[in-house]
Amino acid sequence: MTKTSEILMGRTTIRKYTSEPVEDKLLERLLEMGCRASTTGNMQVYSIIVTRDNNMKKELAPFHFNQKMITEAPVVLTFCADFNRFNKWCKLRNAEPGYNNFLSFLTATIDAILVAQTLCVAAESEGLGICYLGTTTYMAHKIIELLKLPPGVVPVTTVTLGWPAERPDQVDRLPLEAVVHKEMYGDYTDESIGRYYKEKENRKDSRQFVEENKKETLAQVFTDVRYKKADNIYFSNMLLKVLKDQGFMEQ
Ligand SMILES: Cc1cc2nc3c(=O)[nH]c(=O)nc-3n(C[C@H](O)[C@H](O)[C@H](O)COP(=O)(O)O)c2cc1C
Repeated sequence: MTKTSEILMGRTTIRKYTSEPVEDKLLERLLEMGCRASTTGNMQVYSIIVTRDNNMKKELAPFHFNQKMITEAPVVLTFCADFNRFNKWCKLRNAEPGYNNFLSFLTATIDAILVAQTLCVAAESEGLGICYLGTTTYMAHKIIELLKLPPGVVPVTTVTLGWPAERPDQVDRLPLEAVVHKEMYGDYTDESIGRYYKEKENRKDSRQFVEENKKETLAQVFTDVRYKKADNIYFSNMLLKVLKDQGFMEQ
């Protein structure tokens, strides 16, 4: 295996970091590499907010439901879908931007996520540990306020970055044939669902999860505890309002 394959196949999310700083030069290199990711029409419709200041981290923490990685990681990166800069350039150059719609939000989100993931792979190649935080889209309105994001900018994901202070076991993945379809989508039968989820359901940590949450099945831990319908609807409505407020819903 090449070094890259080894890194990709051996990686795990890291949620504990040492107090060793991430040097500015290294971070800059990672950012440069992240920004070499493919980007729609080479528009680069994204921005990255680097948080290193402890007070800013403390202020950000509640908007990530106080997940400790925010205050403990030396670097917090908020990746934003950003048409603000591109819109400004268009207007200055006598061009009328037509990017105040949902499609453009999705375009900018894809751009931002590609930068984030490229940076993460680069960071992991340097021995750093990363953790994505999905809380960004739950509390986007608060993050917008704190980071002073103007219209046309929406935070879409956050990554905490630092030198690993833990070596967690790798968690499972579904078998490849569960997620890969050859030529056309082959829909799942009850039997194939059973087969593909068998290993996950039978893992010791999964069984423990079910027991601790007093549920009958692992799926119920997801639907009734971790990602509940009522929460999804609540945060979905908040995010739709954010998209409207930030100017992405003028269809
Ligand atoms: C979009 C996204 C959001 C995530 N949000 C969180 C989070 O809020 N907190 C957390 O501890 N891990 C978070 N993770 C990390 C996942 O839990 C982790 O990637 C998954 O359990 C698989 O583990 P692995 O990365 O070690 O293989 C997130 C991952 C992604 C891709």
